[in-house]
Amino acid sequence: MSKSLERLCLRVVALASASTLMAAAAFAQSAPPSPPSSAKSSAQPSGYPGIGREAKPKEVAAWDIDVRPDFKGLPPGSGSVAKGMVVWEAKCASCHGVFGESNEFFNPIVGGTTKKDVQSGRVARLTDPGFPQRTTMMKLSTVSTLWDYIARAMPWTAPKSLSTDEVYAVTAYVLNMAEVLPDDFVLSDRNIADVQQRVPNRLGKHTEHALWPGSGLGSTTAKPDVRSTACMNGCGAQPEVASSIPDFARNAHGNLAAQNRLVGAQLGADTAQPFGKADAVSAQQAALAAVVAVPAPSTLAATALIERHACTACHGMDNAMVGPAFSAIAARYTGKADGETYLAAKIKSGGQGAWGAVPMPPQALAEADARVIAAWLATGAKRASR
Ligand code: HEC
Ligand code: HEC
Repeated sequence: MSKSLERLCLRVVALASASTLMAAAAFAQSAPPSPPSSAKSSAQPSGYPGIGREAKPKEVAAWDIDVRPDFKGLPPGSGSVAKGMVVWEAKCASCHGVFGESNEFFNPIVGGTTKKDVQSGRVARLTDPGFPQRTTMMKLSTVSTLWDYIARAMPWTAPKSLSTDEVYAVTAYVLNMAEVLPDDFVLSDRNIADVQQRVPNRLGKHTEHALWPGSGLGSTTAKPDVRSTACMNGCGAQPEVASSIPDFARNAHGNLAAQNRLVGAQLGADTAQPFGKADAVSAQQAALAAVVAVPAPSTLAATALIERHACTACHGMDNAMVGPAFSAIAARYTGKADGETYLAAKIKSGGQGAWGAVPMPPQALAEADARVIAAWLATGAKRASR
């Protein structure tokens, strides 16, 4: 067996035992009290003799970072609301807004909950169809989930980079913004169970669906909550569309047609045009025809590369996001001597100050790829489809 195939098999075996462990952990939550033991699971003989090896306890531990609603898995530590504000403003606010209110990158984190919800344990606005958004705070029922999610997945561009105390602090700050915790609060592993008793929607989740611990799971007769009966009688003649994107929001994330991956004939709607306009349709068809025809190879390469290297997570074609719009960068550097060399170096090294205080992290891409993108930016950043 080749070395690389051997490594691959090893990884598959490690993955398989980690997911078994997670399933075991989910069951152990409802069936007291048999905590999953990584040592035990890795000591079991492999079901695939001759393939790979057993995952080592350290390897399993690296996967096994989940924090459960009963706080098993929560590492000791603490962090204040005040320190959380510093972390939030440095590492979270650029995407989620200073008050967690932004819906630019994701639904708002904070909003829609009240002091009354903190008392009742149910978010009243979840049952109000007139309320426009469902924020994270409205839906969250377990504080462990907030802690766990931030620890494993945020900041989006550098997951797992926060220290344990920073996770405590920023979790406390999110809860402070939602008026769940006071300004002088210090969240820790010792008081987090009390904080759970203040989560606005803590009683709003139900578990009677046989998919999660609750009365349904242990039962062998319970069925998941997909219990539809035949619905094909007395149906209305015409389905009625109850909501649609309002005109003002149609282009909120920039022109979708210009952001699609160039993998073939599937451009999105030209959202720069009003909905249903004939000219929009024909502009889209023209763009499509151009892509399907013969795009200039260097242009296609650059626009494909900014997708492949996830530059578009922070840069829009025409709209500033975390970083400036590519069209704005092109406008600044096109025709400048050394523009291409400068940009290729900056893409690799990252840095701040050219557009503002928000830094661009160094980008791990091949020098040749950075050059292709830099050359494209230094010559007008033309679209593949134009
Ligand atoms: C570069 C942009 C970016 C940054 C910076 C960032 N986030 Fe996020 N965040 C996102 C995106 C995008 C999602 C949705 C991810 C998904 O659903 O896959 C998200 C989701 C979340 C969620 C889950 C919301 C839910 O309802 O599921 C929380 C909580 C969160 N972020 C907190 C933070 C915190 C705390 C920080 C700072 C330590 C942070 N984020 C930094 C982009 C960002
Ligand atoms: C995490 C967000 C983020 C990602 C990912 C990112 N950038 Fe940036 N980028 C920024 C920010 C913020 C700036 C502004 C930096 C400054 O003001 O100097 C920037 C600036 C730039 C500039 C202008 C530099 C200058 O000095 O004028 C270029 C070119 C650029 N980025 C290209 C890229 C490319 C190519 C990629 C992908 C390989 C990429 N960026 C990925 C955030 C990002």
